[in-house]
Amino acid sequence: MNTSPEVYLDHAATSPMLPEAIAAMTEELGHLGNPSSLHNAGRRARRVVEESREQVAEVFGARASEVIFTSGGTEADNLAVKGLYWSRQKEDPAFRRVLTTSVEHHAVLDSVHWLEESQEAESVWLKVDEAGLVTPDVLRAALESGGNAMVSVMWANNEVGTVQPIGELAAVAREYGVPFHSDAVQAAAQIPVHFAESGADALTVTGHKLGGPVGVGALILGRSLAPVPVMHGGGQERDIRSGTLDAPAIRALAVAAAVTADRREAESKRIAALRDNLVQQVFAAVPDAVLNGPPPGPSRLPGNAHFSFPGCEGDALLLLLDAKGVACSTGSACTAGVAEPSHVLLAMGADEGRARGSLRFSLGRTTTQADVDALGAIIAEAVSRARRASGR
Ligand SMILES: Cc1ncc(COP(=O)(O)O)c(C=O)c1O
Repeated sequence: MNTSPEVYLDHAATSPMLPEAIAAMTEELGHLGNPSSLHNAGRRARRVVEESREQVAEVFGARASEVIFTSGGTEADNLAVKGLYWSRQKEDPAFRRVLTTSVEHHAVLDSVHWLEESQEAESVWLKVDEAGLVTPDVLRAALESGGNAMVSVMWANNEVGTVQPIGELAAVAREYGVPFHSDAVQAAAQIPVHFAESGADALTVTGHKLGGPVGVGALILGRSLAPVPVMHGGGQERDIRSGTLDAPAIRALAVAAAVTADRREAESKRIAALRDNLVQQVFAAVPDAVLNGPPPGPSRLPGNAHFSFPGCEGDALLLLLDAKGVACSTGSACTAGVAEPSHVLLAMGADEGRARGSLRFSLGRTTTQADVDALGAIIAEAVSRARRASGR
């Protein structure tokens, strides 16, 4: 049974693997060897990991020794937020403040909540504007109070696609000597992400948003930082992330990152044009729809279109579109299924109705004009049915 939707507009949740990554991973799965073993098979697997590390480092403007492989974005975010907090605590127990935004992915958001609830950290929520942007001035004002352990601000938002001024924010954090982490999971597939040029101390990336497999990612981490590990064990990855390295997945991640980077410029233009057309078609069909997030342009991911449809429940609309073969998302996939208004839209000042009746269409490598036209042809009818269902 083919369960792929006819029209897949949910690349921000996960994007199909590139054929090159599937081929690399499949080949590697046929080989034996733990990269930590000293025999020939182990050394071969280690070579694969180290070559992949170099490839990932090159794509993201880092040194190979700055790449720590993890099981994905969630683990890398946890390691950055908790690990850096603990290491700063060791430096000075007065470093208790963790600065972040309320539009982060739950991997950061809930790590910060956990630190506050169980580790006596103090969370500081940097204010975002109605487009979801944090300004350097907001960060500067927050850093003026002492006792800052670390800052975490995502590079690009997974719901509304807002791209933060990461270079400027990282520069402010550096002025105050506070480690700066950014979750670049969504940005890495679509816009240039250069670790050294960004000035960030730590960056999170993951495989499955850029054509690689699920379950592998990396924390790119400056050599001078030594976060306290979240997982203890065999001491792999600079003693920061223990666990046997998954050579097949790591190789596929590296291949996917390299292929994606090679094609990024042309692809981003193509996808942005499709996205702009999608926005036009949705407005033509549903004139009172509201586009959430920044206007299309440099402050918005090229593949993101996020709307509120007044008078609709997002989940009902999603299921109506799904029944017609169009896959999209309410908020982030990780929280979909839980009938709660989007925390991102609420932080941006949207009222609860707007936050509930929202849908994200995210475009990617396989998206075509025919996909956009298919959505354009059915969205008006789906919205009026969802409105009738909610009594409008
Ligand atoms: C911004 C962001 N951070 C982190 C994650 C989690 O990454 P992973 O699925 O690799 O754990 C996601 C996944 O949706 C994301 O969008």
